[in-house]
Amino acid sequence: MYLGLDLGTSGLRGLLIDPEGAVVGSAEAAYPVSHPHSGWSEQDPQDWINACQNVLAKLSAAHPAAMADLRGIGLSGQMHGATLLDDTGAVLRPCMLWNDTRSDEQAATLDATPGFRETTGNIVFPGFTAPKVQWVAEHEPETFARISKILLTKDYVAYWLTGGFTSDMSDSAGTAWMDTGERAWAPDLLKHCNLELSQMPTLVEGGDIAGYLRGDLAETLNLPMGVPVAGGGGDNAAAACGIGALRDGDGFVSLGTSGVLLAARNGFSPDAATAVHTFCHAIPDTWYQMGVILAATDSLNWLAANLQQDAASLAAALGDGIDGPSNVRFLPYLSGERTPHNDSKMRGAFVGLDIATDRADLTRAVVEGVSFALRDNLDALRATGANLETLLAIGGGSQSRYWVELLATVLGLPIALPAKGEFGAAMGAARLALCAATGQAPRDIMTKPEIFEIIDPKPDLQPAYDAARDTFKSLYPALKGAS
Ligand code: XUL
Repeated sequence: MYLGLDLGTSGLRGLLIDPEGAVVGSAEAAYPVSHPHSGWSEQDPQDWINACQNVLAKLSAAHPAAMADLRGIGLSGQMHGATLLDDTGAVLRPCMLWNDTRSDEQAATLDATPGFRETTGNIVFPGFTAPKVQWVAEHEPETFARISKILLTKDYVAYWLTGGFTSDMSDSAGTAWMDTGERAWAPDLLKHCNLELSQMPTLVEGGDIAGYLRGDLAETLNLPMGVPVAGGGGDNAAAACGIGALRDGDGFVSLGTSGVLLAARNGFSPDAATAVHTFCHAIPDTWYQMGVILAATDSLNWLAANLQQDAASLAAALGDGIDGPSNVRFLPYLSGERTPHNDSKMRGAFVGLDIATDRADLTRAVVEGVSFALRDNLDALRATGANLETLLAIGGGSQSRYWVELLATVLGLPIALPAKGEFGAAMGAARLALCAATGQAPRDIMTKPEIFEIIDPKPDLQPAYDAARDTFKSLYPALKGAS
């Protein structure tokens, strides 16, 4: 049996699969995010460990025979987090997460420094690891001076599991300290940040063995001795492994907390100026490109919280199919934006509110705003040469048929909905564990899911949505600087 552990932003999910890749069981445990100041987003790494223990205990209770036969563990996780450890392995401060935008000044400075864009293939976004550590250097110098290791979120859990400091290529590409084409740390970029190679974890490919489960943990958790732990992957690369998006033309749209439009790439062809991310894939000699928006279901959750409703019932009230855009426009920049604007200061807006505007209009405006922002991402991806013919929809928002039909129409692309089952980052992590433990080739393991339905764009409604999108596009330049 093989276990995938996906360390999400709101909780940890464990997924157990058998040697054929079929699901045996799953368990989840939640943890909070704290926002002590505007733009800050932090977590206590101890919460991840508690959640991991909780998930392992739940799986052992529900599937004792399968867990006693565990042969491999793989991890995936929210990217870019800065987990800072001292020389005893103790955590120095709360982890600054991917959606923490406090370091916009440091990011702009690094981004303007010759070498960063060229070597990493990416803009240095404020959510990336390097600018956040620069922020610590400037605002908490006594903490910076004590940093012995810098780990990404899933790699801290891997450290707890194995006792070793390792990371994989796909997650590390989101630090802004990596030579993404060469799949290696870039010592010059580290040096520019007053850091050394010895402060970084050892890099392995996602489907290679990074370490082995600690003996003492195996004993306390009642797990077999010597279970290999795979390098794993950043959540988007792992999700791509989970749905078999490995080659040019394969991709997905993810409606999760953040929104992602991802295209797998056979080669490394960055174009930082588009604000598209170009990262290593979790399998060797492969890369991927993605546009990222910071608030996808987060925008709907925000609306739901303020209307004292739950997001699922707001979405359900929209029905199953689209019938034209709302009169209200929504800019989903609640936490600033990455692709295409690279603007951490921008904030969201409703425009066109009317005395007759009701809850349904606001909900429609929100899902439309997120969809228009994803269309901006598609245009940016295409500018890099990435080609997407059909897309698979994943993430919580893809449960809404209305939202998927809207996206298909706004993107002008058919969107495939996978049949019920597991295909997300936890599945990708479990598949990477299977590769690491058995030596099987990733391309043989990472098959595509069965498709339940392909949702086509609605051509008769496209002109109306195009017109609404023109207004949407005019609002960013008009409102920039207003918040
Ligand atoms: C990717 C990114 C997000 C997080 C969400 O660059 O920041 O998709 O990985 O977990």
